[in-house]
Amino acid sequence: MTIQEEMKKRRTFAIISHPDAGKTTMTEKMLLFGNLIRSAGTVKGKKSGKFATSDWMEIEKQRGISVTSSVMNFPYQGYQVNILDTPGHEDFSEDTYRTLTAVDSVVMVIDGTKGIEAQTLKLFKVCKMRGIPIFTFINKMDREGREPLELMEEIESTLNIETYPMTWPVGMGKRFMGVFDRENDQFVRYTGNEEETYIPFSELDQHPDLTEDPTYQEAEDELMLVDEAGDGFDLEKVMKGEQTPVFFGSALAPFGVETFFNTFIRYAPEPAPRRSTEGVVSPEHEEFSGFIFKIQANMNPQHRDRIAFVRICSGKFERGMNVTLSRTGKAFKLAQSQQFVASSRGTVEEGYAGDIIGIYDPNVYRIGDTIVTGKQNFEYDELPQFPPELFKKVTAKNVMKSKQFKKGLEQLVQEGAIQLFKHYHFEDYIIGAVGELQYEVFEYRMKNEYNVEIELTSIGERIPRWLPEDQVDESMFDDRNMLVLDREQKPLVLFKNDFSLRWFQDKHEDVELIDLFEVNKYDQSYE
Ligand code: G4P
Repeated sequence: MTIQEEMKKRRTFAIISHPDAGKTTMTEKMLLFGNLIRSAGTVKGKKSGKFATSDWMEIEKQRGISVTSSVMNFPYQGYQVNILDTPGHEDFSEDTYRTLTAVDSVVMVIDGTKGIEAQTLKLFKVCKMRGIPIFTFINKMDREGREPLELMEEIESTLNIETYPMTWPVGMGKRFMGVFDRENDQFVRYTGNEEETYIPFSELDQHPDLTEDPTYQEAEDELMLVDEAGDGFDLEKVMKGEQTPVFFGSALAPFGVETFFNTFIRYAPEPAPRRSTEGVVSPEHEEFSGFIFKIQANMNPQHRDRIAFVRICSGKFERGMNVTLSRTGKAFKLAQSQQFVASSRGTVEEGYAGDIIGIYDPNVYRIGDTIVTGKQNFEYDELPQFPPELFKKVTAKNVMKSKQFKKGLEQLVQEGAIQLFKHYHFEDYIIGAVGELQYEVFEYRMKNEYNVEIELTSIGERIPRWLPEDQVDESMFDDRNMLVLDREQKPLVLFKNDFSLRWFQDKHEDVELIDLFEVNKYDQSYE
């Protein structure tokens, strides 16, 4: 098979959801389709692990399979599926956001009893900003939940995206009877056990037990309404992240997961071209290239190893190949040292655009780095900087250690593990993160890798807004609206809350405040 044919088979995606919406259950069902695990069952021990990556190690232990943390891959119906894990819960961090830079599409799992929740909204914003195609699975239809029409409206208005129901549910909870599969013109009947029965629309009149049920008739009316008043399916819009195909089901039952997955896998995009300093690079390009979106230290506590996760963007990866790190121009051989994240642990001999590989990092890589082969010499677009929400002041417990402290800070900032800010006037360092986990990891690494104990003092949740340098008037700011500098010495204000942000905007209408999410959306025009 050619490089191009291999590439076209790749489906690389992440599942996003709010904690407890059913991401783990859903992933597990997908792994079952891929024969990666032999039997379904609830993943235990999930909540006891401190880091989300333990989810998969835990599954691995229990089922005797080899899924390593972070990436799972398996062949399915002629496609090569790569699922990237995005930690949720308190494990939420910039890693979670950055993972979304390495996927070609996203599956958004929503708890049908709750609708859109906070974490889903945050992750969704990143997908929207990057124009990633989003497929929606509304879960837990086996429980009494919100009305489907209401859920669709909530998705449209809260997330500002068109919806197209690929399936439409009949009833819910105890009255749940199945879904209309609009894509395949059939009714998928829920029987309460794992079997799904398919009835072509043309044969539905032979099933009066179904069609004469008031719950069925009500759903049929709704479907007619959706047919008439709803948007038509528009693949082009889906590919731009402007429309989301919506499916209903239950990951636990399981019901509707297979119908979802089969349609998803057909419509989900193959690896997309990516922008670089030398223009757009096609995934069909023969020469190998990729970028590092995540670095994980201490995957194995016995050895202090660091693994860099590379998203392959073009060409073919082969074990033992020589690559150049574009940032430094230095060459490396990806030989013995690389470890692979694959369905079978150990080394994998080859990889193509869309695949994720884990390479051993002898402390040379940074997040966002590009590696290439041959005469190529370019870097992929920088990964966007994500606006932090939590801020803490950081100091070394022992002032004698200030040299190591600064070195640790500097290196961890370079690696992309944390975002560092400095008070506009004082030598105060402030760390910004999107989740608590980042602080835990930071504290741990400062102690273990740099031998410095640190003290973190929370200054709470803040709303960061950048502002043009020439508009900085120090008298406008105080501790509530704190003026700081980012690592490129660009000024920004940490607003205490929405109220103080609005109050400031009203008072200083001429000051242009920049929201990083908006900036990222407009192609880093702020540069
Ligand atoms: P997460 O990874 O998104 O955090 O969610 P997870 O799959 O762990 O699911 C959260 C809870 O919701 C689990 O129950 C799970 O069994 C349940 N669940 C997932 N999908 C469905 C569904 O389609 N229907 C119903 N009724 N429940 C579903 P738990 O009690 O928190 O955990 P456990 O004791 O079952 O492990």
